[in-house]
Amino acid sequence: MYARVVAVTIAAVLGAAAVLLSPASHARAGGDGVPTVVAHRGASGYAPENTLAAIDRAAELGFSWVENDVQRTEDGELVVLHDDSLERTTNVEDVFPGRAPWKVRDFTAAEIARLDAGSWFSPTYAGARVPTLRQYMRRVEHNHEKLLLEIKSPELYPGIEQQTLKLLGNEGWLDGRHRDRLIVQSFSADSVRAVHELKPALTTAYLGAPPVAQLPRFADFADLVNPSQTALTREYVSAVHSVTGPHGRPLGVFAWTVDDAAAARRVAGCGVDGIISNKPDVVRSALGSD
Ligand code: G3P
Ligand code: CA
Repeated sequence: MYARVVAVTIAAVLGAAAVLLSPASHARAGGDGVPTVVAHRGASGYAPENTLAAIDRAAELGFSWVENDVQRTEDGELVVLHDDSLERTTNVEDVFPGRAPWKVRDFTAAEIARLDAGSWFSPTYAGARVPTLRQYMRRVEHNHEKLLLEIKSPELYPGIEQQTLKLLGNEGWLDGRHRDRLIVQSFSADSVRAVHELKPALTTAYLGAPPVAQLPRFADFADLVNPSQTALTREYVSAVHSVTGPHGRPLGVFAWTVDDAAAARRVAGCGVDGIISNKPDVVRSALGSD
C-alpha cells in the first residue's frame, strides 16, 4: 500500500513537472527521437481538409496532433479553411453563382455555414461544413487532440492574431493544461511575432526556412522553424537546433508536407522533430513506429 502511495505521488509530481516545463518542451522530438507526426488539415488524405470529419479521422487513425488554417468572414467570424477563396473546397459556385471570386472575407458566417465542404472530396462526406474556429476547438478538445494552428494570410485580416487568441482563451486553450497541446504558426513573421508578444508563454512557429544567419532574429519570437521538406538538409536542421528559442530551449523543426514513405525517412534522417502529413499513417509506417 505504502509503495503504491509513493508511486502515485511520484507520478503526480512528475506529471506536474511536465506541465511546468517550458511551453516549448514538446517542440522537439520525443525522448525516443521519433518525430511527432501531425495530420495536415486533419487527416486530409482521407477526409475533406479542415473539416471536423478530417480531425475525427486523424483521431481514429491514432494521431493526436492536427493542423488547420484560420481565416475570417465578412462579419468577423473565425473559420477554418485553407484557400482565401471558397471555390475549391465547397459548392459555393452553385449556391452563390454571381459572387466570384468567392473570397472568404466577402461572405458572412451564415452564408458559409450553408455550404457543402465535403462533396468535392467524396459523396461519403456530403454535407460536411466549413467549421467555425469555435466549433473546431470544441471538437479538438472532445477528441483529446493537440493543435498546430496556422493563421492563414494574416495580411487580409488585420487583428486576427488578437482575435484568435481571445477565442482560444475563451475556449480554455491558453491555460497551463493546454500549453503542450497548442502551437500557433504562420508564414508571416510579423504575425508570429504579434502572437508571441500578446501571449509570450505560447509556443509559436515560423513557416519557412530563413537563412541560417537570420535564425537568431526569428528565435526572438518563434520556438520552431517549420520548412517545406523539399530542400531540407541535415545541416539546416542542425543549424536550427543550435539556436536557442524564446523559452530557452533549442528551436524545433516540423517539416511539411510529407506524404510518401521515402520522403518521411529522408526528413526523419535529417533530424526533424515533427513531420506534417496528409497521410500520417504512411509516415508512421515508414518510420516503423506503428
Ligand atoms: O503546416 C504546414 C503547411 O500547412 C503549410 O502550408 O499551404 O498547406 O498551409 P499550407
Ligand atoms: Ca496550413
